[in-house]
Amino acid sequence: MLDLKTKTVGFVGGGNMAYAVAMGIVKAGLVDPGNVLVSNRSKEKLHMFSKEGIQVTQDNIEVFSKCDIIVLAVKPQIFSVVISELKERGNHINLSQKIFVSVMGSNKIEEMEETLGKGTKIVRSMPNTPCLVGAGTIMISRGNNLTDDEYECVKVLLSSCAECFECPETLLGPASSVMGCATAYGAGKLALESDKHPEQLKDAVASPGGTTIRGLYAIEKAGFRSALMDAVNATTAKL
Ligand SMILES: NC(=O)c1ccc[n+]([C@@H]2O[C@H](COP(=O)([O-])OP(=O)(O)OC[C@H]3O[C@@H](n4cnc5c(N)ncnc54)[C@H](OP(=O)(O)O)[C@@H]3O)[C@@H](O)[C@H]2O)c1
Repeated sequence: MLDLKTKTVGFVGGGNMAYAVAMGIVKAGLVDPGNVLVSNRSKEKLHMFSKEGIQVTQDNIEVFSKCDIIVLAVKPQIFSVVISELKERGNHINLSQKIFVSVMGSNKIEEMEETLGKGTKIVRSMPNTPCLVGAGTIMISRGNNLTDDEYECVKVLLSSCAECFECPETLLGPASSVMGCATAYGAGKLALESDKHPEQLKDAVASPGGTTIRGLYAIEKAGFRSALMDAVNATTAKL
């Protein structure tokens, strides 16, 4: 198998999900922080990576050019912006030599292969934020152009911070809703080990207009929170 210690891992987009996965794999000791490079639009967010020894830049092209494995971690609608930039300034980069791991919610493998170039090696994945504490769940779907060795390398990388399940791309959405959104252990471990309030952890997975906020809406609409309060009150009343 490819030796991960000799590989550089890049992240395009340095938000919540990039932080969870980057820190997850670094903490697992599989990749040295110095071999991880993160690019982000604003400078402020890069600080949380650099204080952990991770390399940072505001130039996405640097990640495309320097890294062997590139995690695409911008919002789905920003992918086209990144691609335009790549076409403008990254023509010299041989993308067919790179392995792309997309964590972007809705971009399909075929669409990414079209845009990044026929023959591009892509793994599409749906991780969750407990990757940060090594208790994540990641669903993955394999693109058409990776060798078995390359695919194995991605699986080993992601499995260092999460339980990794393979599924056909058509099932990635439903499988993620069931597996990724229902991991009480991962969410609990993250709440215990993080210095953030649970509300902040919830906000980190619920973008306005995104998929998770719909699930939260259904929970609130069904009165889940008040049902729990009623249960405590009913039990207390009998004591
Ligand atoms: N959060 C989750 O639980 C979760 C789970 C599964 C999949 N995902 C997927 O992960 C991806 C990222 O989600 P997230 O929750 O991490 O969102 P996020 O926290 O908003 O991170 C996105 C990052 O992309 C940066 N960005 C925007 N435009 C950019 C550009 N042109 N070049 C470089 N960076 C740019 C943003 O920087 P600024 O803030 O500086 O603008 C931001 O830090 C999404 O595609 C989402 O579907 C998220």
